[in-house]
Amino acid sequence: MNSLGDIEQFWDANPCGETLVDKRQDWKTFFTTYDAFRYRTEGHILKELDRLDLREKHILEIGIGQAADSEQIILRGGRWYGLDLTAEAVSRATTRFNLFGLPYEAVKQGSATEIPYADHTFDVVYSHGVLHHIPDIRQVSREIQRVLKPGGQLVAMLYHRNSLNYFLSISVIRRLLMLGLFLVSKIGLRAAIRNPLLIGHLRNAEEFGLVRYLRNPLFMIRNTDGPGNPYSKVYAPCEVEKDFAEFHIARTGIHFLNERHLPFLKLLPASWRDWLAARYGWHLWVIMTER
Ligand SMILES: C[S@@+](CC[C@H](N)C(=O)[O-])C[C@H]1O[C@@H](n2cnc3c(N)ncnc32)[C@H](O)[C@@H]1O
Repeated sequence: MNSLGDIEQFWDANPCGETLVDKRQDWKTFFTTYDAFRYRTEGHILKELDRLDLREKHILEIGIGQAADSEQIILRGGRWYGLDLTAEAVSRATTRFNLFGLPYEAVKQGSATEIPYADHTFDVVYSHGVLHHIPDIRQVSREIQRVLKPGGQLVAMLYHRNSLNYFLSISVIRRLLMLGLFLVSKIGLRAAIRNPLLIGHLRNAEEFGLVRYLRNPLFMIRNTDGPGNPYSKVYAPCEVEKDFAEFHIARTGIHFLNERHLPFLKLLPASWRDWLAARYGWHLWVIMTER
């Protein structure tokens, strides 16, 4: 298991989603391009936010990334507070808010395992794509319960175990590709491999040994968010109930086929893709209330 220090170092060096758009731009253009890409490929985020009652609510966002959803929460009338493990995410959030003139309450650097806010402060805790990266998730769940007002809501997006991305892309296709990559490197063609992600996976296979590297959870962890990722977990709804025992699940939503990793899905009619995404998508949204 990796320490919080390793996790902080990783996310500081790899701010979330950064590789998805050209980052050699001024901040204003970068944020605009990033948001356009994010909500074109993950339009369900805006629909899920629209289903929440955010106006005048005190909302803590855990794990800010590029602060795209933070802006959306503020635009929907939420009184936004932020928390992120990295100085980089905190700095990007304040840069964005200043550039676009967005009002916010506070933003702090710190960990969800020890939330630096007082008891019963928030109506909603929102965390998109973050909690599955924190090893001590039971402590996080207790901390979220502590800072929520009675009857408050936890809205989390977690990686979905029962998904095409997990069962097909990571478990089958990527393992076969890894085997091929390893063989290519063994027949003297290692120098031909230039892609930094592929080099990262090869290094992992060399460090851990190929057979050990191909086993879960290690292979799953290193195949979500890059070969250097220290920690991830995938969730079926019953696993959510165990890790977030202080809460009960009010509603779930399943979204996002991750077509970048499964490009052949683009050949299917849109209605089929929607059907698949709503059952076997990679993003499991869970709306929880205190038990
Ligand atoms: C995958 S990114 C998600 C960012 C954003 N919510 C999004 O959807 O793009 C994970 C973020 O969570 C932050 N993070 C990781 N562990 C954390 C912790 N223990 N406490 C607070 N933030 C954490 C990282 O620094 C990073 O900004």
